[in-house]
This record gives sequence, C-alpha cells and structure tokens, in this order.
Amino acid sequence: MNGFRKKCFGLMKPFTGILGLVIAGGCQSRGPAAPGEGNRTILEIGFETETHPFEPRGGSEELTLTNEAFHTGAFSLRIENRSKPWHGPSINIAPYLTAGREYEISCWIRLISPERTELQLSTQIGQGDAASYHGVAKKGIALQDGWVQYTGTYRYTNISSGYITLYVESPADGTASFYLDDLRLTELAAPMISLEDLDPLKSRYEPYFLIGNIASNADLKGIRFDLLSRHFNVITAENGMKPASLQADQGAFTFADADELVDAFLAQGMQVHGHTLAWHQQSPEWMNHEGISRGQAVENLVTHAKTVAAHFKGRVISWDVLNEAITDNPQNPEDWRGALRETPWYKAIGDDYIPLLFQAAREADPEAKLYYNDYNLDNQNKAQAVYAMVKELNERYPDVGGRPLIDGIGMQGHYRVNTNPKTVALSLERFASLGVEISITELDIQAGADAALSESQSLQQALLYGSLFTLFKEYAGSIARVTFWGLDDASSWRASANPTLFDKNLQAKQAFYAVSDPERFMAQHQGLTAQETRRAHAVFGSPVVDGIVDPIWEQAPALPVNQYLMAWQGASGTARVLWDDASLYVLVTVTDTVLNKASLNAYEQDSVEVFLDERNDKAASFQEDDGQYRVNFMNETSFNPQSAGTGFVSAVKTSGASYTVEMKIPFKHRTPANGAEIGFDLQINDASDQGIRQSVALWNDLSGNSFQDTSGYGILVLTGKP
Ligand code: XIL
Repeated sequence: MNGFRKKCFGLMKPFTGILGLVIAGGCQSRGPAAPGEGNRTILEIGFETETHPFEPRGGSEELTLTNEAFHTGAFSLRIENRSKPWHGPSINIAPYLTAGREYEISCWIRLISPERTELQLSTQIGQGDAASYHGVAKKGIALQDGWVQYTGTYRYTNISSGYITLYVESPADGTASFYLDDLRLTELAAPMISLEDLDPLKSRYEPYFLIGNIASNADLKGIRFDLLSRHFNVITAENGMKPASLQADQGAFTFADADELVDAFLAQGMQVHGHTLAWHQQSPEWMNHEGISRGQAVENLVTHAKTVAAHFKGRVISWDVLNEAITDNPQNPEDWRGALRETPWYKAIGDDYIPLLFQAAREADPEAKLYYNDYNLDNQNKAQAVYAMVKELNERYPDVGGRPLIDGIGMQGHYRVNTNPKTVALSLERFASLGVEISITELDIQAGADAALSESQSLQQALLYGSLFTLFKEYAGSIARVTFWGLDDASSWRASANPTLFDKNLQAKQAFYAVSDPERFMAQHQGLTAQETRRAHAVFGSPVVDGIVDPIWEQAPALPVNQYLMAWQGASGTARVLWDDASLYVLVTVTDTVLNKASLNAYEQDSVEVFLDERNDKAASFQEDDGQYRVNFMNETSFNPQSAGTGFVSAVKTSGASYTVEMKIPFKHRTPANGAEIGFDLQINDASDQGIRQSVALWNDLSGNSFQDTSGYGILVLTGKP
C-alpha cells in the first residue's frame, strides 16, 4: 500500500504521505463543504493513482481500480464478487483520527448490480470481541440513480485500538456490486469534551456503595479510560470474561485480553467484578452441546469455573457465578426448580448444576463474593423464585466457615422509563431479608428510540434514575455495588434506546445529574415521576353483552394492548371501554395465530384479563375494591378473588385464530360519574400450540405483578354521561 499516490484536485501533483494519503492542508477540499468554520479535510481518496489503501473486508470480494466509471477525475474503485452483507471495501483510518473529535465522512457510490438495493457506509472500532460497529450513512440506491453521495458524521471517542475502519456494506443484499469514488474524511470544529466540570460519581457514592461501569479492551486509553477512571471505582468486562471469550476452544484458555483489561483498571486503584462463569449465552458450543453426558457437562462446567476463578483470584472482588438461570415471570415461584430455565447445563446435569458450580467457584477463590445474577428481578414472581432458590441452597450447603454458598444477588437492572421503582423496592426488601448482599449489576434505562431522545423523554429517564438512586441509598446497608451497563449511549448494547448517563458525544445527560445528586434533582422536579402511565377515556353507553359488537362500542377510543412482559411477542389486541351507572363494559379484540386452552392453568390458556382498582388507590396489595377478571376464547371465566365473579357477564366470538371478548363488570365499591378515575389494566395471555404461555401483552402495567399489586395500573377516565 505504501507509495500510493494521490491526485490533488486541480494540481495533478503526486503526493506521498503516511500510507500515501492526503493529510490536512495537503489539498483543498471540493464538493459540498462540511458545515461550520474551522473544519479540516484530513483525508481524500479519488482513486486516480495506481494503488489505493482499501482492502477487502470479507474474503471473496474483488477490488479493482477502473476507468469504466468515475465521479470525478478518470478512475474509481470497482467492488464485485461479494458474498456476504458485511463484505466490501475497507480502509483503516485510525492514524488520521484524534480522540474526542467528530468527523464528517462522505463517499460517492454507483451501483452495478442488482437493479436496486440498500448500501451503508459504516465504521468499525477495534477488532475481535472488542469491536463495535456503527452505521454512518444508509440509503437505498438504484441503477438509474448514477452516482449517489453517502454522508454522515461520527465522533470517535476511543482510537486506542489503532484499528478503526470505514467500509461499505449492503445489509439487504450480500452480493451487490458497485463503484466507489471520492471518499473524504473531515474533522469538524465542534469542541472537545471537558471532563473536569463534573463531580466524580464515585466520590458522591463513597459513603454508600461502589459505583461501576463496563469496559472492553478498546476503552483502555484516551478519553473513555479517563472518564471511566474519573467516575467509577469498579469495572465489569462487558464481554471479555464470558465463557466464549476465555475458553472458545476446549482447554485453550485465552486470558491475555482480560488480563490486560483487569490490570489496567487495578493500576488505576479501581476494583474489578467478574462476569460471568456460567451462562446459556456467549458460551462455546463444545461446552454444553445437545446430547452431552452428565459427567462430561459437570467436568466442563467445573473446570471452566475453577480455572477462571483461580486465574483472577486476588484481582476480582466478586463473580457473577451464574447468570440468568430462572425463566421470565414464573407462575409458581415457590417452586424454584420448576422455574429454572431449560438451559443446556440444566438439561445435561439437572438442578444440582447450581450448587456444583458455586462450590467450584468457592474452592478456586474463597475470598471473592459469589453472586447469582439475573434480569427482570423487579418482576415479583421472578424475584420470589430467586429468593426461594438462594434461601434453600444457602440453608442446604453452608460453607465450613458458616458462610453461605451464595453471597449475593445481582439485579441486572435493564429498565425502561415505565419501570416502577416500587417493584424494585419490593425486590430489594425481599433480598435484603435473606441476609445476602445485593448489587445492581447492569443498570440502564431505555428511553426514546432510533438513537433519538426528546427533552421530555430525557427528563423522564433522569427522574427514574433519580428515584432509583434515592431508593438505592435507602438500601445502602444491603447494596454493595451499583454498576451501569454502558458508558455512553453510542457504545451501549442498546444504543438505539439511549439508556446511559452520557450521550454519544460523552456529554453528561440529565440522567447524570439525577444520579449525581438525586435528592436535589427530584426536588427541582417536584411532583414529576418517570412513569408514563397510560390514560384513556371510557365513554358513557350500555352495550348488549352477547358476542355481537354493537355500533355503540365505536364511540369509545381504542386502547392498544401491545406492551410485552416476556421476550416473546405473540398475541396482541385492542380494547374499548364503556360505562353506565351500574357497570363497566370492556370489549377486547385479540389477534392470535393459534388458539389453545390445553393447559390446566387458566392463565396459560389463550385468554384476556381485566384488572380493576375501582377507587384507584394504587395499593401494593389487593384491597376489597380490586379484582382480576379472566375470560378465555371459549368464554370460560376465572376470577381473583373468587367473589369478583358475582354479577359478571361475558360473551366471546371467535373468528379463525382471532377472538373478541365482551365483558360486563358491575361497579361494587364506587358510584361512577363523569371525571372519575379508575385504576384499570388489560392483559392478553398467548398460549403456544403446546399449551404453554409464550407471551403476555399488556395495556400499561409491565410489573408482572398486576394480579396482586394495583400500583402499576393505567388509568381510565369516565366521560360522556349527558
Ligand atoms: C451484552 C453485551 O453488552 C453485548 O455487547 C453482547 O453482544 C451481548 O451481551 N445481560 C448480561 C450481559 O448479563 O452479559 C449482556 O451483555 C446484557 C444482558
């Protein structure tokens, strides 16, 4: 690649620099100027010389200089014979970048085949497990469009890997061929980030608990390292200590990257938490594949846990020994064995894989605190199952020193703005009562979408961060550590939902200030809460409940039952609500793909549920005015409490795999009137063709706790009575 010569426009003078590329000041820029004063073009490639610094990114694709087509000058680069969406021309731009600076990146592309597709200009930061990928510009392109410009901006906050590429890929069609010309990289004059203005979070939480974040090897230098070191006193490797990273091939442990990461932060006087010794994800196939014998599985599990824990002994304060072993929203949480996720470990070994694993970790590193770590632990069913498991195992397998087998429970804390802090509090209380320590291990709060966050969403997110940290301080006696899962929105695993404290430019968001001083922040925004409680009108009118949808229903607005409690997103629907002086009327239309009521548990059958808190007092446990009304697609009913069924009428009409439920629920504890607010929610249970509940959709309350706690219900406002 050396000796590459670049044409300077107009000058036609060969130029040789590092990699033979044009460096700032070497050329004038052309085409539409990057916005703003003081921008510097630092790299331009027009393919006018006999060599070029691009390389194939995948394998089979061919890159050829050609004069068949050009955007300017006489040549361009032809890319053909691609076989994967991510294949394409790639150039390492790391030598040209300054950390913390934002760049405008632009190139011109002309399609060769197919007739039309979508192309994307992207950037890769770092290599291997530490790599992250970001789209810079994406658009559709057709043959008849000729040359099309792809432009976008990106701020590189970490360049320490020395490997940062720009490349063109085609997400929709791995075989598209195209010409590339006139790539330009412009450093924008936007200001650098200043670190000094913010109080370190770790000092603010010094009296309470450790405060942490995650890192990868790409974070070990530069501004990201500085920011991590400034605000946090404990680090978790985002991916680097997972089974797939440490023992991809049996017996061949690869510790170099993880050691580098751990030692870099230890050298800063920080601490390290280990994540994770066993998980059903990011684990190599050989470790626990389908059909492995119990003996072999135990051997693999124990060897991995012991070798890894022994390797980091003395350098980590704690381990997530086991990650995510309990299913979502288990219905019989007392029976924690029945609530275990059917992971390969479970299938090969049985439920005793859990004590075996913890014992192995304890033996290898007796000093480290051993954690069970899971998500959605604000779901009370899941929290109860974890409680039951830890309680039983700690009673059954006490350590010689009298130490419990499991020292701590990690609440991951992947939240959304409508997460209810009250349910988080319930779980903290529950776990604290076990006497184990608690850590919040992967905190982030999704808000907004598509990497966009409005002012009001940003405030809501900050309010939830603020109320959670107020709560965490209350439980500081039990909480050892609070770790965020992501330094900034752009590098987060959920980048599109803006979940962290710093924006893509590493500037502190409102969320940062809410965490830094929650009492002050909450006082400044008094009366506001994070929850976006859904509200809707119920309209005055009396339909006949007979399975025929009277036109009067049309007068009530449609409520979407479209928020999901579990990972699987199955049946959903819409509802309408009417009322008269005696009753509330609910119509729910469910769209499903298969109707099934094989399960003996009514809640596992295809069915619809209404939750009612007549007085809207939002009590954390059911009072006399609260009720749950369930109707399945065959119009079989069930109630909680049983007495709620008195005076209830329902009718159902099915149509293929969809069904419509009409219900009449008499008011018993309140005289309805215009303007009255009623606590109300709707749930759609979706049974699989095997008769197992595979999905739960709700109107508002995603606590998973609506059957016993009304505090998360949405609100119905009664209107329309003449
Ligand atoms: C995530 C990482 O953030 C991603 O980079 C990776 O691609 C997938 O895993 N629960 C966990 C973490 O315990 O290990 C996960 O981390 C997020 C969910």
